[in-house]
Amino acid sequence: MIRSYDAKITPHKPIRKKSVQSPIENILEKVNLDEKLKKMLPRKWELIGDVLIMKLPNELEDYEKDIAIAYANELGAKSVIKEVSGISGKFRNPNVKLILGSETETIHKENGIRFKLDVKEIMFSSGNIDERLRMANIANENETIVDMFAGIGYFSLPIAVHSHPRKIYAYEINPIAYGYLCENIVLNKVKNILPILSDNENAQENAADRVIMGYVHKTHKYLAKAMRVIKEKGGIIHYHEVCPNELLPHRPIERIKECAKNLNRTMTMLNYKEIKSYAPGVSHVVVDAEVR
Ligand SMILES: C[S@@+](CC[C@H](N)C(=O)[O-])C[C@H]1O[C@@H](n2cnc3c(N)ncnc32)[C@H](O)[C@@H]1O
Repeated sequence: MIRSYDAKITPHKPIRKKSVQSPIENILEKVNLDEKLKKMLPRKWELIGDVLIMKLPNELEDYEKDIAIAYANELGAKSVIKEVSGISGKFRNPNVKLILGSETETIHKENGIRFKLDVKEIMFSSGNIDERLRMANIANENETIVDMFAGIGYFSLPIAVHSHPRKIYAYEINPIAYGYLCENIVLNKVKNILPILSDNENAQENAADRVIMGYVHKTHKYLAKAMRVIKEKGGIIHYHEVCPNELLPHRPIERIKECAKNLNRTMTMLNYKEIKSYAPGVSHVVVDAEVR
């Protein structure tokens, strides 16, 4: 028996889920390049605030503006910067070229902190994020801290905001970085950082419970000063170094031990951590050492 129904039967249309593409898939779709060149497009980049930094191979030089537009639109960047070579010199200056936009000053937000900087002038290492997070809660309210290489406040700001130490003396030798350090102190409404535009060789000795050595350019040359800045009763040093992997973990630890011995102090290692890969076969590490 055939039944008839009043209801209208509509043919089944499968519901298509909107495909979720990754940013690089969207970029590859939009950028107008032949397949061989598309394969050379960067799969990694750094977005500092709303300024994008990336590496581009020479083969893509003629197309860099179009490439920059595609990346900027996808990632919401106002400017795009191309890395020319690595960070260099005492001030740790970036060597970059602006390929899209005009403004390179931005505010990068991380862990409740606002870091204002000009990405063309000042470095900001996204790879150090775990270390900035770790340092944020490392201190206590009774501590006096000396940040020997403060920059724009990479470590001083998270410590000041989240650990509330008594005082942080933040030494910075580069006037541009120092300018941003001062601005960032105001921007983050921090009262316990004293920014000092000076070589850290002028830091007061026998003064700190904790010394931060967030620098990777022959940092061991500053160890003796750091140990003299620590209070005579003792304190903690956070010592950074870039080191070939085959010399890890011994070289940085031995350097601290040797320096402590020369100054008639004792050293106990509290923690050793690899922060990031710095170059092929080379790592950026940090050692926390108690010096007495
Ligand atoms: C760029 S920071 C390192 C940043 C940190 N490792 C990071 O990536 O988050 C190092 C800073 O130390 C400063 N500096 C270098 N030598 C110095 C010295 N002798 N006294 C004070 N500041 C110094 C540089 O100008 C630079 O701003």
